[in-house]
Amino acid sequence: MSTTPVPNVTLNNGVTIPQLGFGVFQVPDEETTAAVGTALESGYRSIDTAAVYGNEAGVGRALASSGVPREELFVTTKLWNDDQGCDATLAAFDASLEKLGLEYVDLYLIHWPTPARDRYLDTYRAMEKLLADGRTRAIGVSNFQPAHLRRLLDHTGIVPVLNQVELHPGLQQRELRAFHAEHGIATEAWSPLAQGALLKDEAIAGIAERHGKTPAQVVLRWHLQEGTIVIPKSVTPERIRQNLDVFGFALTQADMDAVAALDSGMRTGPDPDTLN
Ligand SMILES: NC(=O)c1ccc[n+]([C@@H]2O[C@H](COP(=O)([O-])OP(=O)(O)OC[C@H]3O[C@@H](n4cnc5c(N)ncnc54)[C@H](OP(=O)(O)O)[C@@H]3O)[C@@H](O)[C@H]2O)c1
Repeated sequence: MSTTPVPNVTLNNGVTIPQLGFGVFQVPDEETTAAVGTALESGYRSIDTAAVYGNEAGVGRALASSGVPREELFVTTKLWNDDQGCDATLAAFDASLEKLGLEYVDLYLIHWPTPARDRYLDTYRAMEKLLADGRTRAIGVSNFQPAHLRRLLDHTGIVPVLNQVELHPGLQQRELRAFHAEHGIATEAWSPLAQGALLKDEAIAGIAERHGKTPAQVVLRWHLQEGTIVIPKSVTPERIRQNLDVFGFALTQADMDAVAALDSGMRTGPDPDTLN
């Protein structure tokens, strides 16, 4: 097992985030404490949850019992769609913080733009207030397309530190990432393993065999070499550890090119333009 520490990415407001963190989507609250506990013991320091996952309390219990100092942790949660709007955002944030048992989070995200509601500008302004009040160290968005980002940049004061989007070898998001780079917005990949859908792909399996690694490790390594922040999820202790053991090898340019060729526009989750 590699003991190489996870590198940090410096966000546009100077706050740093580990480039590899742990996601808990679809983990029931009562199982979340054990999974996050294993992740923290293994060396993860960044945890990604959301109000709608229903497991912020489980995350909070694991954080509290881990003994890891608060300042070494990076905790992200997300505002659910029904709570968009100024007052609702402030109330939803309070509820999340209470469930997590924290005094502040490191990153607060708008979970989806839900463009038909047309409330993400007001929502983001409320988050700017939470930032100013020191209740979150950074604010950002999730599932924003270039048009949503452009509107946000035109009408609000603070550039989001990152945009968390579906991103994996089957959906490489080149145009969106170019927009991020132009505006100093970091890219964070959700479903970085495409929920397991690409782990049997022949090209990925071949690369894995040549490096003596698993297909999941190859996919995570591809993300890291692309400069993306990743938050793989697993409830399986061996996989939780395996997914962190990706800093002791490197893909070659030929490997990177072979993975680049797998982009097919394949979404495993909803389309942000139509989810409302
Ligand atoms: N912002 C958003 O809208 C959004 C949407 C989706 C996800 N997310 C975030 O992104 C995180 C990750 O995405 P995700 O949970 O959808 O999918 P993912 O991380 O791409 O894949 C998770 C799946 O892969 C399996 N897996 C994990 N490591 C493996 C390994 N080494 N070998 C083989 N299989 C492995 C897991 O199985 P086991 O658990 O059974 O081991 C699970 O079925 C989420 O947990 C959440 O924090 C955000």
